[in-house]
Amino acid sequence: MKSNIPVFKGKNPILRGAEFLKNPFLFTTGPGRAIGDFYRIPFIFRKVFVATNHEVVRHVLQTNQKNYVKSVAYRHLKLALGNGLVTSEGEYWRRQRRLAQPVFYKTQLEGIFRAMAEVGERCVAALVKKAAPGQPLDMAKEMMGITSDIVLKTLFSAESPADLSEMYRIMIDAQDYIVFRTTRPHLIPFVYINGMHRRFKKDMDWFDGYLYRLMDERRKDPNPPNDLLTMLLSARYEDTGEAMDDRQVRDEAITLFAAGHETSSNGLAWTLYLLSKHPAILEKLRTEVEDVLGSQTPSFENLRHLTYTLQVIQEGMRLYPPAFAIGREPVEDDKIMGETIPAGSVIFISIAAIHRDPRYWERPDTFYPDHFLPEIEKERPRLAYMPFGAGPRMCIGNHFALMEMQLLLAMLVRQFDFDLLEDHPVEPEPLITLKPRHGILMKLRGRKVAVV
Ligand code: HEM
Repeated sequence: MKSNIPVFKGKNPILRGAEFLKNPFLFTTGPGRAIGDFYRIPFIFRKVFVATNHEVVRHVLQTNQKNYVKSVAYRHLKLALGNGLVTSEGEYWRRQRRLAQPVFYKTQLEGIFRAMAEVGERCVAALVKKAAPGQPLDMAKEMMGITSDIVLKTLFSAESPADLSEMYRIMIDAQDYIVFRTTRPHLIPFVYINGMHRRFKKDMDWFDGYLYRLMDERRKDPNPPNDLLTMLLSARYEDTGEAMDDRQVRDEAITLFAAGHETSSNGLAWTLYLLSKHPAILEKLRTEVEDVLGSQTPSFENLRHLTYTLQVIQEGMRLYPPAFAIGREPVEDDKIMGETIPAGSVIFISIAAIHRDPRYWERPDTFYPDHFLPEIEKERPRLAYMPFGAGPRMCIGNHFALMEMQLLLAMLVRQFDFDLLEDHPVEPEPLITLKPRHGILMKLRGRKVAVV
């Protein structure tokens, strides 16, 4: 039977898949939009569908989610993350999610806010020094350093600069390795010959050794610090009352570290980029920050009043969603919009394209934080905005991330003016997260604020 699903035709019939793969962010937010909201990219070995249609998204992520598993890229991630929340499936995942959920309750987050604010202040002070000579800084890299320090502090209470930089380096190298395996599967045999896999294994062994020692110390500590690791160690399964074993804690902890900093960091970097191009929005944001915080260190209570700050962050993540797409595969043949979707096909849900759908956004391609005014937001269907995903596998760290981004953005705009280097190219590079390919180079001009 003839299919009703449009197929991307492309300029060159043989390289149609390559046109999509070259930059799925630019493809799905650009030429893809003209094809429709559910279409197929012709690949030889697999059926690949791009979805931005809400009914399809709801079907895959919510109503029929039991028939779907995460796509192949996540399986490569297992090499580093083991069987943690991001990569596990089925009943095992469900049990882990139930166990970990309370760690992210608001009351717990309130408890770790202070640690977050301390690290934020220390990092912003370091940035003041770094920016002083007037050298441009790559804000994507700077944000990565700050969010990595925050997650390491809130997860492990890690303080030692040597440990911090080693863990940070390992995560970056491990990610490069996994991206390499995912994007060049035909070269995988070589990684076992040229030393890449050996180096990756050695790094992971170092990380595991560090974590297992830390867990040991924690169990003996009569007054363990109030961080995410302590919470994971003391969490108990509802059914058996038992705790996780060391390997499970390791997988969940490393997963939280990996999932918990690059996303927020890219979200912040893109938002700073947008603000540098929209001075009137920056000024409005700064007025709110100064009214709410004055020169005080931000408190958890302040966040509630930083409403425009939150709108700016939401709008930044609308245009440049750090997790720009979600991939799923049906386990058994499925039927969507009358089309048979064979087991093993890929459904590529482009969050980036959903976020720019002109049916739901007054100014789809413009930075316009008023999109998130409460009266406008309530008119929009829920799935029109989904930076944290949707359905049962939605991000567990969404409140953590928003709290962190609100805090850091407020601290940064209070302290600096941002001059983007105009001749430096800024281009989205969709890897595991949506990065700026050449970084975001800015000169930071310090403003006079005496933070007390
Ligand atoms: C702006 C920041 C963030 C964004 C945009 C983001 C986005 C997402 C998205 C879209 C998913 C769903 C993936 C899928 O369905 O395939 C997800 C899952 C997840 N995220 Fe985040 N995330 C952010 C921050 C964080 C933070 C701070 C943490 C932890 C501290 C975290 C931990 C996780 C975990 C563990 C999962 C897997 C949840 C599960 O399947 O049960 N994320 N995230």
